[in-house]
Amino acid sequence: MEPKLQLKRASELVSDPSLRPKGFDDFIGQRRTLERLKVMTGAAKQRHEALRHVLLSGPPGLGKTTLAMILGHEMGTQTRITSGPVIEKAGDLAGLLTSLESGDVLFIDEIHRMPRAVEEYLYSAMEDFCIDILIDQGPQARSIRLDLPRFTLVGATTRTGLLTPPLRSRFQLQTRLGYYEIDDLVSIVTRNAQLLSIEIDRESAEEVARRSRGTPRIANNLLGFVRDYCQQQGQRVVSVALTRDALELLEIDASGLDEMDKQILNCLAENYHGGPVGIGTLAAAVGEDRHTLEEVHEPYLVQEGYLQRTPQGRLLTPKAWAKLGLVPLAEVSNQSEIHF
Ligand SMILES: Nc1ncnc2c1ncn2[C@@H]1O[C@H](COP(=O)(O)OP(=O)(O)OP(=O)(O)O)[C@@H](O)[C@H]1O
Ligand SMILES: [Mg+2]
Repeated sequence: MEPKLQLKRASELVSDPSLRPKGFDDFIGQRRTLERLKVMTGAAKQRHEALRHVLLSGPPGLGKTTLAMILGHEMGTQTRITSGPVIEKAGDLAGLLTSLESGDVLFIDEIHRMPRAVEEYLYSAMEDFCIDILIDQGPQARSIRLDLPRFTLVGATTRTGLLTPPLRSRFQLQTRLGYYEIDDLVSIVTRNAQLLSIEIDRESAEEVARRSRGTPRIANNLLGFVRDYCQQQGQRVVSVALTRDALELLEIDASGLDEMDKQILNCLAENYHGGPVGIGTLAAAVGEDRHTLEEVHEPYLVQEGYLQRTPQGRLLTPKAWAKLGLVPLAEVSNQSEIHF
């Protein structure tokens, strides 16, 4: 069957492919996940079997796509890439699956956004490597079974909670990527600077790493901007002073909070006395999509201790008030009771 949706070959992906680590050895950080994947790929290779299905979850830019491509590379097979929302119908999925070769890695990004009706076809594909599709309509309707090659499904999602339990349970390994430690980000910045022939000292690399919100993709973007900035200043070597100036221009502060992070904190403090505020209200107030708040900004603000998620809504923490240089209204009124 000719697939209606053409899968992208991993090598056709844009966005600085040269910076993407190719194998386990180039991949920095996420030690637990890496260890688990090494165990699985090592054992599958020994048994000459396809790798079993893997679900990668975590905020954007932490390396889910990169790891899916690494899995194909390490298994010596191809990684084929698609994403949940583009698989609209069961026929699309059947086309994709039947175009795979034995051992191939099929990477479905944003797998939680796949239509529910299509998702159900994945169950037998993942478990029994076959798919039953209905052809024709009315009295002529009949179901045909297509056998599939042994493939590996690698799913990526920013939020595991949005996956249905039957789909989630069909992934033999479910592993979550967390924000990177500063040391790992420094290694990533240094490695990528070398690949891009940028001369950067340890201190400047640390400065970039600290402001990257624990995220390699942001580190890469900041490094690129710092390079552009230095070039425009007529400097060939990246210095700390220039790095700080460049990052200042981007309005990224020393703790890595970007404009939207700061806007969220300010909005909570100034408009809602620190909360609690429902996510929908907060999203409308800062003019940002609710899902972007939940998937991109909130996890980092919560992890860094600026924001608390409570059943009543989002709440500013004392650390956030201190960061904003403001005093919570409750404390102001307490103090006024004491003094007057
Ligand atoms: N461990 C790592 N070491 C070095 N570079 C990395 C690492 N992880 C990610 N990167 C870099 O960060 C970039 C973003 O990674 P990737 O595209 O895999 O993230 P993602 O989790 O798929 O994000 P999204 O959810 O937005 O699709 C890559 O281009 C790669 O260069
Ligand atoms: Mg990705």
